[in-house]
Amino acid sequence: MTRHAIFIVAILSPIPEHLDTVRAWCGDVAAVVRSVGKRSLAGQLSCVCGFGSAAWDRLFGAPRPAQLHPFSAIGTGDRLAVSTPGDILLHIRADEKDLCFELAAQLLKKLGDAVTVVDEVHGFRYFDQRAMIGFVDGTENPEGHEAFDYTVIGQEDAPFSCGSYVLVQKYLHDMKGWNALTVETQENIIGRHKQSNIELDADVKPSYSHSSLTTLTDEQGNEVKILRDNMPFGKPGMREFGTYFIGYARSPQPIEQMLENMFIGRPAGNYDRLLDFSRAVTGSLFFTPSVPLLETLADRTTASGST
Ligand code: HEM
Repeated sequence: MTRHAIFIVAILSPIPEHLDTVRAWCGDVAAVVRSVGKRSLAGQLSCVCGFGSAAWDRLFGAPRPAQLHPFSAIGTGDRLAVSTPGDILLHIRADEKDLCFELAAQLLKKLGDAVTVVDEVHGFRYFDQRAMIGFVDGTENPEGHEAFDYTVIGQEDAPFSCGSYVLVQKYLHDMKGWNALTVETQENIIGRHKQSNIELDADVKPSYSHSSLTTLTDEQGNEVKILRDNMPFGKPGMREFGTYFIGYARSPQPIEQMLENMFIGRPAGNYDRLLDFSRAVTGSLFFTPSVPLLETLADRTTASGST
């Protein structure tokens, strides 16, 4: 986890020649990250690039990541995980904001008119890793080997091994409504104690709590986890208070299942009350290639034969 992050979602230009620019850019990304990152080693600069389903087909053709698909909206009415356009994702992270800013500027400069940025969020770490809603965020993230196993594609899709899937959603919070709740009600909604960050005991934790609804097990009863790196963001003067959700997994399935549990409910109707105070305004799914694959994508030829 870093102190700062910039999340950029862009869409591809409709002009076919611009696809060449983006493919060439894939071969440059690692060098640009190295160049900017070397300016402050302590800053821990890194960048993950993701490609949406339609963009993959336009840019790289076959073969394609086995589970890459457009994100379909989940839920209805006021409780809707929307699906919004997104061809390229940049998840830029560092402990120093200037590093994130410089890398974003350099990478976008190289892309030029080949893309249009449709969303850009500058996130920051809030006190002791707390989300905008005041609870510590990220506690139950898998770590080390476990994180690798849950998030990194293996032999199940060999050409895309060492890549990952990532789903992003931008949430805006009704902080007035949230802060009007008692701390006890908030704790029941999240499933953890607010101040101490200790999980509520199983016999009192509501089945509608965020923690309960996002806990998944497979057919063998083993827990299935995802890796989150959410960031608070906002503009107090504009009354904007948000959480940028970003979840990585080896397959989109667990992330989408968690969203179904949150937005529709498990069982239906037993939904995540956090959503009474949080509205998803974006939502897109991407495949993130490994560094070696990203470099070779520069040489890919699409089905239509353009290089
Ligand atoms: C409004 C946006 C969100 C906020 C503010 C938020 C906040 C939190 C907080 C405070 C926790 C408890 C501490 C922790 O383990 O991290 C948590 C847990 C978790 N969240 Fe979220 N979250 C949001 C959206 C999501 C979404 C969209 C997903 C999945 C699609 C998700 C998946 C999880 C998971 C898997 C856990 C760990 C559950 C456990 O094992 O107890 N969250 N979240």
